Amino acid sequence: MNVILTAAVTANGMIAHHSDEVIEWSLDLALFRQQTMGHTVIMGSNTERTLATDLDGRNVIVMHRDMDPGEVLKNIKDEKCYIIGGSRTYTRFAPYLTHLYLTFHPLILSSQSLHLFTALGNDIDLEFIGKIEVDGEKGVYQFQYRVKQ
Ligand SMILES: NC(=O)c1ccc[n+]([C@@H]2O[C@H](COP(=O)([O-])OP(=O)(O)OC[C@H]3O[C@@H](n4cnc5c(N)ncnc54)[C@H](OP(=O)(O)O)[C@@H]3O)[C@@H](O)[C@H]2O)c1
Repeated sequence: MNVILTAAVTANGMIAHHSDEVIEWSLDLALFRQQTMGHTVIMGSNTERTLATDLDGRNVIVMHRDMDPGEVLKNIKDEKCYIIGGSRTYTRFAPYLTHLYLTFHPLILSSQSLHLFTALGNDIDLEFIGKIEVDGEKGVYQFQYRVKQ
């Protein structure tokens, strides 16, 4: 199964000002909906609280601290699942990722903001596999990478 991290990130690799932010600067919501529709999405409980819309049409799993990422993935019967945030949840699933879909936005957030990963122990080596235009005029593209094993 493909385990795909998908995130809207700033030019300095941040995903939110803080853990309770309702993200309004992201331009890739339509692409996110199209890609995740019909599949499993996994998010942390903080992210669930910030969602502005329902994730209808998707199998939604909300992670809590007592859940084991490996066990959660073992029980999913799907060809792909998406890890949709936030920072703590991206980090917990980092060892299982097969792909990263990162949409970079023309924005720099302050250093107190949330990084894509909170505390990553190892490097992750990536192979670029393609890009999708989100808003060409604003220079917003989703970059797709495969994790090199
Ligand atoms: N830019 C993007 O693409 C994007 C995407 C998604 C989210 N976000 C943003 O990311 C932010 C949320 O990210 P986040 O990292 O704060 O939260 P999160 O990953 O959404 O959820 C927090 C997770 O960490 C667990 N946790 C909380 N405190 C813990 C502790 N002391 N020890 C161990 N586990 C703990 C929670 O479990 P419990 O339920 O047991 O507390 C939950 O599973 C929001 O602002 C959201 O808008 C941005």
